[in-house]
Amino acid sequence: MPEAPLRVVVLVSGSGSNLQSLIDDVHGRGDAEIVLVVSSKDGVPAIGRAEGAGIPTTVVPLAGREREERDAELAATVAAADPGLVVLAGWMSILTGTFLDAFPDRVINLHPSLLPSFPGLHAIRQALDWGVRFTGVTVHYAEEVVDGGPAILQEPVPVLYGDDEEALTMRVREVEHRLVPEAVRLFAAGRVRRDPDDRRKVQILPVEVE
Ligand code: GRF
Repeated sequence: MPEAPLRVVVLVSGSGSNLQSLIDDVHGRGDAEIVLVVSSKDGVPAIGRAEGAGIPTTVVPLAGREREERDAELAATVAAADPGLVVLAGWMSILTGTFLDAFPDRVINLHPSLLPSFPGLHAIRQALDWGVRFTGVTVHYAEEVVDGGPAILQEPVPVLYGDDEEALTMRVREVEHRLVPEAVRLFAAGRVRRDPDDRRKVQILPVEVE
């Protein structure tokens, strides 16, 4: 079990309900510390949530420039916080290798479906339109292929007859708010291992018994 708390940087773009679950369930509880919240947009509720918890915030927008240029600034901003883990929690902007390569195997993303089903935008609407009986939540390594990195945690959510997008979104969110803190706790405990010989395989190591 690592001794110092895991330093976590959270990237957000909007409401920040998953950031809130990290603040409530993980932040400052010994295992992990959110040291910085970066938003791609100014004035979003997620920034207020971070400020409410006394966590430093900054905004790094794309704003009419090339992604590589934004990602170089983003990488420098995040690196200055010296993170052990970067969590994309509702970060709604595609990241290039310029950012991702700066934090190998240390960037994780949250997606509201059982990947590889329904990547990209409107995953919940896609699941309803398709007529699946189960959709779910995936926490996965972020790679340059959007929603393409291997899964760390996945949990199914049943689609009920009569569900609309709002109802299903609420049930998916409940699971997200449990899975994101759980993923951070696993990293903090050093229990997530990406197989060096087959990088699509992720092992969750058992709890060490003293
Ligand atoms: C979540 O559904 C997440 O899966 C998706 O964006 C949403 C963000 O919600 N990538 P919030 O900002 O955490 O409330």
